[in-house]
Amino acid sequence: MKLGIVGAGMVGSTAAYAVALMGHVSEIVLVDQNAALARAQADDIAHAMPFAAATQVRSGGYADLAGASVIIIAAGVSQKPGETRLDLLGRNAAVFRAVLSETMTVAPQAILLVATNPVDVMTGITARLTGQPPARVIGSGTTLDSARFRDLLARALNVAPRSVHAYVLGEHGDSEVLAWSSARVGALTLDAAAAQTGRPLTLEIREKIDTGVRRAAYAIIEGKGATYHGIGAALARLVAAINGNERSVHSVSTMTTQIVGVHGVPLSLPRVLGRDGVEAELVPDLDTSEQAALADSARLLKQTLESVPL
Ligand code: LAC
Repeated sequence: MKLGIVGAGMVGSTAAYAVALMGHVSEIVLVDQNAALARAQADDIAHAMPFAAATQVRSGGYADLAGASVIIIAAGVSQKPGETRLDLLGRNAAVFRAVLSETMTVAPQAILLVATNPVDVMTGITARLTGQPPARVIGSGTTLDSARFRDLLARALNVAPRSVHAYVLGEHGDSEVLAWSSARVGALTLDAAAAQTGRPLTLEIREKIDTGVRRAAYAIIEGKGATYHGIGAALARLVAAINGNERSVHSVSTMTTQIVGVHGVPLSLPRVLGRDGVEAELVPDLDTSEQAALADSARLLKQTLESVPL
């Protein structure tokens, strides 16, 4: 399987490194307007392969994306301290017009995996500019947020994160919704799991987890200027799910026909991923406050997408 990555900055190159180490992709091609950067990133990752896997990693131009099954779009600017993800929209929409035109010319068959923030709106822009079916235009969305949510719940309850099933829905951003009411540990609700593990999930602990998920990126950006390891690994996981035709469930972002009464909006919901992209949507039961918060998030994303002149 050939993977293309447009944007060889920290997110794109870290995703390339994570995929290359996993060894399930035969070839990775890195493309960037800064050809020297793409070449340097590709060579640096290639030098890790003798220690890890037989993945072929190289840089190239858009023409070298031909035949890619999946193309990660990680081009554009990232948040600086004090910026929200939505603040990046104007600059990144301009970048996408150029990137998508070139990409679709050479690889119209590829599943597009959008990483650039604000990722939900950029996913909607990608769907509209390319005309590709929504199932094949996938944003990383709240995949990373859901992992952060599961990790903090797992630590609180002293269980393995992979035994926690919990999702963040809506915007990958400040309006995101932690779906507490549908979260499960093994086959138990959170309250039952807390009781049976003897690890109380007090209101204070829940608020700390909510803040920990919602503010994770801001804290990391304050400390080191950007996030890239978490999102890089999340993108690698999504590529593996598609490439392996796993039919595993991930809270990715796509254009959504209708959710909580809002129509035609790009946002994250739990979705089944396989070789053809999104193969099913699995909307969890939500309590009234979660439904209201998701409707707010959906309306914000719909308004933001419609504000972009395409
Ligand atoms: C984060 C970036 C990917 O949440 O938005 O780390």
